[in-house]
Amino acid sequence: TVLVVDFGGQYTQLIVRRVRELGIYSEMVPWTTAADKIRAEKPDAVILSGGPRSVLEPGAPDLDFSVLEGIPTLGICYGQQLMAARLGGRVETSNHKEYGHRVFTPAAGDSLVSGLASNEVWMSHGDQVLEAPTGYRVTASTDSCPVAAIENLAQKRFGVQFHPEVTHTPDGRTVLKRFLFDYAGLKGDWTSESFIEDQIAAIRQTVGEGKVLCAVSGGVDSSVMAALLIQAIGERAVCVFVDHGLLRKGEAEQVVETFGGHFHANLKAFEEKERFFGALAGVTDPERKRKIIGENFVRVFEDHANELRDCDFLAQGTLYPDVIESGSPTAAKIKTHHNVGGLPDWMRMKLIEPLRWLFKDEVRNVGRLLGLPEEMVEREPFPGPGLGVRILGEVTRERVRMVQEADWIFRSELRSRGLHKGIWQSYAALLDVRSVGVMGDERTYEQPIVLRAVQSEDAMTARAVNIPFDALEVIASRIVNEVDGVNRVFYDLTSKPPATIELE
Ligand code: XMP
Repeated sequence: TVLVVDFGGQYTQLIVRRVRELGIYSEMVPWTTAADKIRAEKPDAVILSGGPRSVLEPGAPDLDFSVLEGIPTLGICYGQQLMAARLGGRVETSNHKEYGHRVFTPAAGDSLVSGLASNEVWMSHGDQVLEAPTGYRVTASTDSCPVAAIENLAQKRFGVQFHPEVTHTPDGRTVLKRFLFDYAGLKGDWTSESFIEDQIAAIRQTVGEGKVLCAVSGGVDSSVMAALLIQAIGERAVCVFVDHGLLRKGEAEQVVETFGGHFHANLKAFEEKERFFGALAGVTDPERKRKIIGENFVRVFEDHANELRDCDFLAQGTLYPDVIESGSPTAAKIKTHHNVGGLPDWMRMKLIEPLRWLFKDEVRNVGRLLGLPEEMVEREPFPGPGLGVRILGEVTRERVRMVQEADWIFRSELRSRGLHKGIWQSYAALLDVRSVGVMGDERTYEQPIVLRAVQSEDAMTARAVNIPFDALEVIASRIVNEVDGVNRVFYDLTSKPPATIELE
């Protein structure tokens, strides 16, 4: 394991990702708990991240370097400054911040940063190291930064002022690779295959002869989680799929086909459309719809309690970014479930989170290796209340059909034109108004579809996708012609903020 100590840098997650891309398992640990974790787990190497503070400020993020004795360590930016400051070098706050591309000059002789394909690097710092600690050699400098890299070979300690983890440092990968492979002696043998093997063993060990309740929604995370559990414990993975009738066209069928058919899983598919459409009848307020869908979901589980209550564990599709966000990357792997409100008491079972170490793209890769269909592995994020929040006004079977058909046309046209790549979410929604049109010689007075396609990194901000006009024109014409009850199509150009990704 390579531990990346987070001093609050904006690129810390990226360092973890880069290390993993080299086939080495890596985790992030906040600086506040880093010393304990390093002492307890004796990682193979440690990387100290960048950070926004100054090591010269009182109370700045710190680390007890004695825990790093004998552990190969690379300090990046703040990490290098801290290394210099704590080990007897000199750091100063310079008057001008250095930000952007720089080209460094390597010192003579072999070093971590000598002989790179490019000496161009990305800098982003205020403070800088003026003097390396005793025993450390300066291995690179720039015009404005005399100590751009340091190293102490005997102790296998390295520091770089620049950021090797960002793509703006063209040969940064070599710097990380050399540190990990050549100096820390690691091998790149952590792969999706080895992850699956390790997790299967771990799940078997944890679960023993017990059963795991595994709710599948059709989304990427729950599908991959279920596939992993099925591999590990077969029939004792009790997969539950609630068909609330608010998925996209064909998706409910695909869940049943994949898990019930292809995997021969112990799948309990509860067809509950009546219940959800009944409960939603006459309801138009967005938050009421959400609440009703959530509550009825829980009721389905309550009604089937007898089939499910002998499960010992509840599987949850938590991913590494959620773990980092909740501030406890080191939290126990299994904990008692008490954070989800509204679950019946018997469902407060032990929680198992087999994907909590993975980033989304790693989850997708694991899913592929486990044999999930590509459409499932590549599925976009989809809201829990499903089409319920994409049908403005009342949710009825008829209006669900209209949205499903329009959505199907929109997305298949995007796919067949290769326009779906790089899209974060794309969907059709139905508005709660009517407008006049003419079809044949008839006047129509029907509902409009809104198409939305956005690019985003994390759903916090988003921009409308620039879909070529001719494609939009074909899509609009197909929807109006093929979907009964629709006589107009709009394309939503609004970004988030001020709009949101969903319409309600
Ligand atoms: P908004 O519409 O707030 O959406 O920009 C941000 C992201 O969250 C998803 N979303 C939901 N997911 N239950 C969910 O599980 C919900 O009620 C819900 N509302 C929005 C949305 O699809 C987008 O990815």
